[in-house]
Amino acid sequence: MVLSHERSDALVLFGATGDLARKKIFPAIYHLSRDGDLDVPVIGVASSEGDDDFLRERVRASLAEQVPDHDPAVLDALLARVRYVSGDYREPQVFDDLHRALDGLVRPLFYLAIPPVLFDDVVTGLDRCGVAGHGRVVVEKPFGRDGASARELNDCLHRTFAEDHVFRIDHYLGKEAVENLLVFRFANSMLEPIWNRNFIASVQITMAEDFGVAGRGKFYESVGALRDVVQNHLLQVVALLAMEPPAGADADSLRDEKVKLLRQVRTIEPADLVRGQYRDYVDEDGVAAGSDVETYVAVRFEIDSWRWAGVPWLIRAGKDLATTATEAVVTFNAPPRLLFTPAGAPEPGPNRLRFQLGKGDGVRLHLHAKKPGDELIPEPVDLQVSYAEALGPREDAYQRLLDDAMAGDARRFGREDALDEQWRIVSEVLDHHEEVHLYRAGTMGPEAADRLAADVGGWIDPAPPTGSD
Ligand code: BG6
Repeated sequence: MVLSHERSDALVLFGATGDLARKKIFPAIYHLSRDGDLDVPVIGVASSEGDDDFLRERVRASLAEQVPDHDPAVLDALLARVRYVSGDYREPQVFDDLHRALDGLVRPLFYLAIPPVLFDDVVTGLDRCGVAGHGRVVVEKPFGRDGASARELNDCLHRTFAEDHVFRIDHYLGKEAVENLLVFRFANSMLEPIWNRNFIASVQITMAEDFGVAGRGKFYESVGALRDVVQNHLLQVVALLAMEPPAGADADSLRDEKVKLLRQVRTIEPADLVRGQYRDYVDEDGVAAGSDVETYVAVRFEIDSWRWAGVPWLIRAGKDLATTATEAVVTFNAPPRLLFTPAGAPEPGPNRLRFQLGKGDGVRLHLHAKKPGDELIPEPVDLQVSYAEALGPREDAYQRLLDDAMAGDARRFGREDALDEQWRIVSEVLDHHEEVHLYRAGTMGPEAADRLAADVGGWIDPAPPTGSD
C-alpha cells in the first residue's frame, strides 16, 4: 500500500497527445517543475507512433502556446525527464513498454486523460503488467453518462485501485475562487446569521462562454451542457454555497458534509429545465446533422433542508453567449417600501452578493446609499474586491490538483457517493426533455429560459470582471 504521505515517484499520462494535455496538463507539469514540486519522470502514453523526441516537441509546442513567458532552463530540465510510450491500449505491448519505461519505479500516478470507454482497457492493462499495485489513478470528467455508467466505471477502477487511490478530477474544485466560497461564508461571521431562507430570496449561478465548442464538436455531441458542466462543476458550486461547515479539514469531513447537502438537493423535474442550441452548432466539425444536443441549459430546483427550504436555486450555462464569466449571485430579500422617500423615487432593489468565479475573480456586494441632494433617495453602490489585487497570484486549478494527486491528498477530488448524488440530481432530465430552442450567438441564450426566473426578478447577467487577471 502507498502510505498517504508518500509522493508518487512517476507521472504517467495516458492521452498525452490530446487536447487536454496540450492546454492544461503540460502547463501544469511545467509550473510544478518550476516551483520545485515535480522532479520525477513524466511518461506520456498515446496511440500515435513516435519516440521520446516526438512527445518533447509536443510539450514544447504546448508551452509556447499556453505559457509563452516560460523559463527555457526549467523547460529543458523537464524535457530531459519526458519519455514516450506508444501503442494500442487493447494490446499488451504498450503496457510492457510502459513497465520498462518505469524502470523499477513503484508508485506512479496514472493520469487518464482519455475517453471513459478506454478506462477498462487501460486499467486492465496496468493491472496485468504489474505496475498498478502501488499506484494512484486520476480520472478526467465526464465520469460516466449517468448513475449506472458511473457505477460501472467505479467498479472497473476498484478492481485494481482502492478508493483512496482514485482521484476524480473536477477542475472547478481546484479553483481558488471556488474553494474560497466555503472560507468566505464561514470566516465572515456576519454572513452566517443571514445565510438561510429567512434572508435569502434566491440564488443564481451563471456560467457563460462567448465561444462555441471550439473544435470539440465530437466530444460535445456525447455530453451536452448538462453533462459537461452542470452535473459536475456547477453542482460543486451549489454544494460549497449551501453546505454546513465541515467538522474538520480532512478529505472525508469536507466530503461528508458536501454529500449531505447534495442528498438534500431535489431531483430536477423536466418542467424545470430549458435547453438551447446556438444556431451554427450543427455546422461544427464532428456534430451530427439535426443534432438535438444542448449547448445551453437552464435549470431550477430547491434544497430540502431547514436552511434552504423554499429558496429557488437557478443555474444556467451556455456556449456562444454574450460574455465569458462564471458567477454565483445570492439575492437577499428586498427591503420594505421606504416611506421617507419622495413619491415617484425608485424603490431600492434587493442587496446582492456576487461571487465572480472566472477570470478577474472577486466579490461584489450591491448595497444602496443616499443619492446626494436634498431628498432621501437611495442609489445603488457596490463594494468590490479583486482577489488578484487583494490576495496576489494564485496557482492554476490543474497545477493544484496534479500536485494534490501526486501527494495523495483527496480533499479537492470527487468521492464516489457525491458523484452518485450528482447523477441522481440530473437523472430525470438527462433524457426526458423538450427539444432544444435555437438561440443567436452573442445573446444570453433562448428566451424560453426566462420563465424559470420570472418570479425571482429575471436572470442576472454577469457583472464586468472585478480584477484584471
Ligand atoms: C470543461 C468543459 O470542463 O470546463 C468545457 O468541458 C468548458 O466545455 C470548461 O469550456 C470551462 O472551464 P473554465 O475553467 O474555463 O471555466
